[in-house]
Amino acid sequence: MERTFVMIKPDGVQRGLVGEIIQRLEKKGFTLVGLKMMAVSRQLAEEHYAVHRERPFFQGLVEFIVSAPVVATVWEGEGVVASARKLIGATNPLTAEPGTIRGDYSISIGRNLIHGSDAIETAEREIKLWFKDEELTPWEPAQKSWLCE
Ligand code: RTP
Ligand code: MG
Repeated sequence: MERTFVMIKPDGVQRGLVGEIIQRLEKKGFTLVGLKMMAVSRQLAEEHYAVHRERPFFQGLVEFIVSAPVVATVWEGEGVVASARKLIGATNPLTAEPGTIRGDYSISIGRNLIHGSDAIETAEREIKLWFKDEELTPWEPAQKSWLCE
């Protein structure tokens, strides 16, 4: 089953949006299989955003991610990687559509509340990076037959 990694960034935690963000993914019908609040080490933040290492915003982004706790989550479901990105909305909250998480609750690219893996392979890499196998709990939602044919 397809999985994605979603992180509620420090601004999402500080602004009290953890429940709202998790609820949006739950209500959509995806299954939460991993969840932890954590202070992020500089090493983990740099590894997570390694693809942006040469970009001018990299240092500021890492500083931000280590500045306060985040909530790391793993979600399961058919097409969850692309769908979670849609629910999250565009990187720049000012161009993110209303109805998306970033579009509804944020105004600044450097404080856009949430991260979601951008492809299936990225999701696999990120889930391995953030979670040990035993921290993930696959389960069968009772509502499954009411969600999918
Ligand atoms: P994320 O990785 O956090 O889910 O965001 P994303 O895919 O929508 O965007 P990405 O291009 O991967 O950028 C990662 C994060 O870096 C910050 N950023 N700042 N100042 C800037 O021009 C700039 N560009 C990107 C954002 O916080 C973005 O989420
Ligand atoms: Mg990204």
